[in-house]
Amino acid sequence: MPQPLLELTGVSKTFGPVTALDRVDMQIGAAEAVGLIGDNGAGKSTLVKILSGLYPPTTGSMRFDGRAVHFGSPFEARAAGIEMIYQDLALCGDLDVAANVFLGRERKKSFGPIRLLDRTTMREDARRVMRELGTDIAPERIVGGLSGGQRQLVAVARALQFQPRLLLLDEPTAALSSEKIRVLMGLIEQLKARGVSILMISHRFTDILHVCDRIVVVRQGRIAGELAPHAQPPERTMAAMHAMMTGDALGVSA
Ligand SMILES: Nc1ncnc2c1ncn2[C@@H]1O[C@H](COP(=O)(O)OP(=O)(O)OP(=O)(O)O)[C@@H](O)[C@H]1O
Ligand SMILES: [Mg+2]
Repeated sequence: MPQPLLELTGVSKTFGPVTALDRVDMQIGAAEAVGLIGDNGAGKSTLVKILSGLYPPTTGSMRFDGRAVHFGSPFEARAAGIEMIYQDLALCGDLDVAANVFLGRERKKSFGPIRLLDRTTMREDARRVMRELGTDIAPERIVGGLSGGQRQLVAVARALQFQPRLLLLDEPTAALSSEKIRVLMGLIEQLKARGVSILMISHRFTDILHVCDRIVVVRQGRIAGELAPHAQPPERTMAAMHAMMTGDALGVSA
């Protein structure tokens, strides 16, 4: 098997008395899309926050691209090529769409020694990026006034500006209409085709089945099992996903 892009070994995370993750081993290959599912509080967001450098693991180790990594912040994870779209988004509500898309990578123009923000270019580029995402949200709009789904698309546009090698998505479709979900799923397939690896948390089994090469199930902080989405008919995979999430044995439904 080729070397995985990302490898976690024995990763645990405690918050005081709460064990959010308990000795998690996990791998993600290059250009692989992995779905992460589990009940509320299972530890999914904690896992991706560790990968994105937001939290250090309490114990355990992480390798990315063949090297041991210890991210002290999301900036360090980003520099390594890991980009995260948070469940709670983390956009600047008082800035416009273009400023949010290019936050941290602002386009500048020079007048002799003076470097100024190039708002015109950023707005043109943001308009193009938003179009690619299937939306015509105006780059001048203030993000605080957008709907949840529109904000989600701005967050996706922003993450893509960093050209990540691994993109982490925490419930990316929760606020999207079904049409926008289709666009986002299409985008994930495009990214995969370009060699980007994806780790996507979703409660929507159909999205996971549609785009993921592998499904990892988390239950009470531990990996409960893995599924290959296309190994059996979708109804059976869905039943197995549900059984692993809840800990019910397969085949005992009434
Ligand atoms: N910053 C924190 N401080 C204390 N406890 C936390 C913190 N973050 C998460 N936890 C706890 O860790 C456990 C796992 O939480 P996490 O947010 O990772 O779950 P999740 O699988 O993402 O759930 P959901 O599907 O509801 O988003 C929960 O018991 C949660 O209360
Ligand atoms: Mg979560």
